[in-house]
Amino acid sequence: MNEKKFVRKILCVGAGYVGGPTMTIIANKCPEYQVTVVDINQARIDAWNSDQLPIYEPGLKERVLQARGKNLFFSTEIDKGIQEADIIFVCVHTPTKDFGEGAGKASDLQFIEATARRIKDQSSGKKIVVEKSTMPVRSAEALERILHSGNNSSEFEVLSNPEFLAEGTAIRDMENPDRVLVGSRETPSGIKARDELVKIYEHWIPKERVITSNLWSSELSKLTANAFLAQRISSINSISAICEETQANVREVGNAIGKDTRIGEKFLFAGPGFGGSCFRKDIANLVYLCETYGLKEVAEFWDQVIKMNDYQMDRFFKRILRAMFNSLVGKKIAVLGFAFKPDTSDTRDAPAITICKKLLREQARLGVTDPKALENAKLDLQGVEGSVEFYADPYEAAKNAHALVLITEWEEYKNLDYSRIFKSMEQPAFVFDGRGVLDHQKLFDIGFNVYSVGQPGMEHFSG
Ligand code: NAD
Ligand code: UDX
Repeated sequence: MNEKKFVRKILCVGAGYVGGPTMTIIANKCPEYQVTVVDINQARIDAWNSDQLPIYEPGLKERVLQARGKNLFFSTEIDKGIQEADIIFVCVHTPTKDFGEGAGKASDLQFIEATARRIKDQSSGKKIVVEKSTMPVRSAEALERILHSGNNSSEFEVLSNPEFLAEGTAIRDMENPDRVLVGSRETPSGIKARDELVKIYEHWIPKERVITSNLWSSELSKLTANAFLAQRISSINSISAICEETQANVREVGNAIGKDTRIGEKFLFAGPGFGGSCFRKDIANLVYLCETYGLKEVAEFWDQVIKMNDYQMDRFFKRILRAMFNSLVGKKIAVLGFAFKPDTSDTRDAPAITICKKLLREQARLGVTDPKALENAKLDLQGVEGSVEFYADPYEAAKNAHALVLITEWEEYKNLDYSRIFKSMEQPAFVFDGRGVLDHQKLFDIGFNVYSVGQPGMEHFSG
């Protein structure tokens, strides 16, 4: 490799769901920049360097192959990467703390701090450090203090550049984002660093979509965006509960209110509860921040979004139990979809985990199927008491089952041969469509008893 051909060297610390894909797109769009992604996890880096990438994301592999070995590199040589880099993205995970003060709410910032200390120890000269991980507001200040501590003569400018991609659509979200946000200090050196980062994004994103702000607004905007999105889901899920009591249909209600342009049509789909690595964690973090600042009412307001989500998962499970004559003992239930949403193998905080555990406590036997997430599902249910089998083939999962429970709306589940499935099942046969995506009338005509979130049940009285 001719080292001189690159105008700048970018390093990303953390080769996860965000670091890998975002850096791949930067490498694709900015061939004159060298982009290196490092991680402490050797297996993950090996996977990024192989044919079996560590995460599934539509369109990702082609884009990795386009740049890997040219201007995109995956490595565990973290110190070397830091020494050589001009711009360092910090993209390590910031999970919810599960110990000590703030357990269950506060962000666990140990991985961020370890990264900051390593950057400080290995740096010389000037470097831009970019927070891409989602952080509590005012974290950049802590980063600045760590980086500038001791005798180190290096100069660091810290920027906040939160990531708004959603899994399953990550490539589209990054190639054509609604906006990119860059927060900086409003000092001459802060603005200079900000302009350097903006210049990277302007390779492919129109100027007006790259917005700038101060550091704290940028950090808080990320938490707020996720809180607003999750709040919409909890809002429509709360309405789904009223629908089930009143014969209203949540699809029709969502459609009717979404046509109001002030409300908008997106994120109004009732389901078994939201999942994923971000929503619960980021709202919990927001709640904790509010409590820390003594804003009790604000904390309670946002906490309700999480409570409503827990309620929704429980309600979905209880409807299954009630419809199946209040006993699931020994009954096989086919779980269609385990990923927290379609087009990803990610199962972090997936509603399927909670719902499956509740079903297992009732002594149901589970047949879990998912097109991409079966390996993660096995890990998630490892050690949980009860009978669980995993099937690549949904028809096998459904064989001899009493019920189908659709938790993730994979496209292929809409087009299964439900007549064939019905014939292979125990009778009476039930479908619980957690996402409201199946053809309910058709299923009912085949002979299923059909229940969908926020919709009246369709029951055969003769079985
Ligand atoms: P992830 O767990 O998939 O990846 C984080 C990686 O960081 C891991 O591979 C881990 O080994 C590595 N790491 C941890 N400590 C390290 C260290 N000291 N040195 C080097 N590597 C280290 O996490 P993710 O889903 O990519 O999320 C990263 C951040 O982005 C989080 O703050 C998250 O909230 C935020 N975010 C995530 C998404 C998403 O959809 N996943 C979207 C927007 C923002
Ligand atoms: C989310 C944000 O959308 C993204 O901007 C942020 O960067 C990371 O967090 P992600 O969690 O990957 O992205 O997926 P998202 O599409 O937001 O879905 C999250 C959960 O909400 C999924 O479980 C999904 O099924 C659920 N959902 C979404 C609903 O139940 N109803 C909806 O209408 C939309």
